[in-house]
Amino acid sequence: MSQEIKLAYGEKMPLEMHKVRIVQKLNLPKVEDRYKFMNEAGNNTFLLQNRDIFMDMLTDSGVNAMSDRQQAAMLIADDSYAGSETFNRLSAQVGKMFNTNFFLPAHQGRACENILAEAFVKPGQTVLMNFHFTTTKAHITRLGGTVEELIVKEGIDPHDLSPFKGNFDLDLLRERIAALGAENVAFVRIEAGTNLVGGQPLSMENMLAVADICKQNGIMTVLDASLLQDNLYFIKVREEAAKDMSIEDITLKIANAMDIIYFSARKLGFGRGGGIAMRDEALCLKMKEFIPLYEGFLTYGGMSVREMEAITVGLQETMDFDIISQGPLFIEYMVKELQKAGVPVVVPAGGLGCHLNASEILPHLSHAEYPAAALATAIYIASGVRGMERGTLSEQRNPDGSERYAELELVRMAMPRRVYTLSQVNYAIDRIKWVYENRDLIGGLEFYDEPKVLRFFFGRLRPTSDWQEKLVAKFREDFGDSL
Ligand code: F0G
Repeated sequence: MSQEIKLAYGEKMPLEMHKVRIVQKLNLPKVEDRYKFMNEAGNNTFLLQNRDIFMDMLTDSGVNAMSDRQQAAMLIADDSYAGSETFNRLSAQVGKMFNTNFFLPAHQGRACENILAEAFVKPGQTVLMNFHFTTTKAHITRLGGTVEELIVKEGIDPHDLSPFKGNFDLDLLRERIAALGAENVAFVRIEAGTNLVGGQPLSMENMLAVADICKQNGIMTVLDASLLQDNLYFIKVREEAAKDMSIEDITLKIANAMDIIYFSARKLGFGRGGGIAMRDEALCLKMKEFIPLYEGFLTYGGMSVREMEAITVGLQETMDFDIISQGPLFIEYMVKELQKAGVPVVVPAGGLGCHLNASEILPHLSHAEYPAAALATAIYIASGVRGMERGTLSEQRNPDGSERYAELELVRMAMPRRVYTLSQVNYAIDRIKWVYENRDLIGGLEFYDEPKVLRFFFGRLRPTSDWQEKLVAKFREDFGDSL
């Protein structure tokens, strides 16, 4: 919850429109220990232990602060295996905000993707999308499908200031449908708040146009609404046509154009879970059987009923502009402060987090040396702040074993909602600036243990030289005995 307020002396500042009523103690290990922990974790930030982390900016998934109303709702959860009132409340809330009639619960976003792929992707078919997400692509390709990305070219230009860099290239969409043949397109997937290009939004106009093109061609439109929260904020503040619309109306207008909407409630709804919503019963029946098979009975789908209650309230709160502003305003603050210091970041500020442009910060490293992963290790060593590699390491190798170099080499500093204060964000900014000033010291990484699937989760790497030791020595020189 935030508002941007004007200061008497100076510029604007995002002001928290909430107070903190439960706290968790944090630990900031010393730099020598941070170096040791990073190497014990195979230089993979996913493998660090939370006790060794000061600020966890790995993700905003399942780690957002809950409101008092969410916590209160958890107490009234109905624990029945089948026919739970909790499910009815969640299902009714989803139906109200998306104008849908059917809701299939699933334990998280990728579980929805598994079911969608099982139900609708046949070998040889293509799924067209603005941009892939790691788990989405893994499920589609596992079933013999192919993914094609049709994002506008500005989307992969980290400097382009266009307001909706997650948009589809509509001409390309028409062209690809014609070339492939509509029957070979399993569905078109719109990813709100495009994760892997820096949380960049799509405009309402673009989403509606994509759905129109799909309708003309008899192709199903699927919205991945996991990051819809930020995308709604950007539509409201950046799109002329939506300026006077409420968040509810924007949501309904988009939802009405979609055949299927799925989401990770670890993001949308400030809880932990997920689900798939639709208007058409026939579509529901194609997926329904997979819920008891993979997830759980139809009225909980692998989720805890307590979380389901929290999600119901979280979805209501997502319709409150003050609440959904907090993430984008804090992210914008971080992006602007880093820009002032010359640190290359993805602009304009998007949702999800602040994205550092590792290719430009470390031009001396090639894709093969995993510059974004190396930068993420340097930031943790310098600060105890954990970010996430979103570059070549997050890609799967090509079938012939060669590397698939990422379009963008990014380090994502995600902004869990309502979790960190502005002074903590200022600390992270300070240490990232220091890393940038000392970028020449940073070297590459190489795998010593590389899993075949989703390697970024479990892969282990080592530095290609003693560069991390030099970074620790420079830290001591500059910061003395400070943490
Ligand atoms: N779709 C998008 C756009 C996502 O960002 C995610 C998750 C998923 C689907 C999968 O959902 O995690 O509940 O299974 N993104 C997380 C992240 C993991 O850190 O960005 P999930």
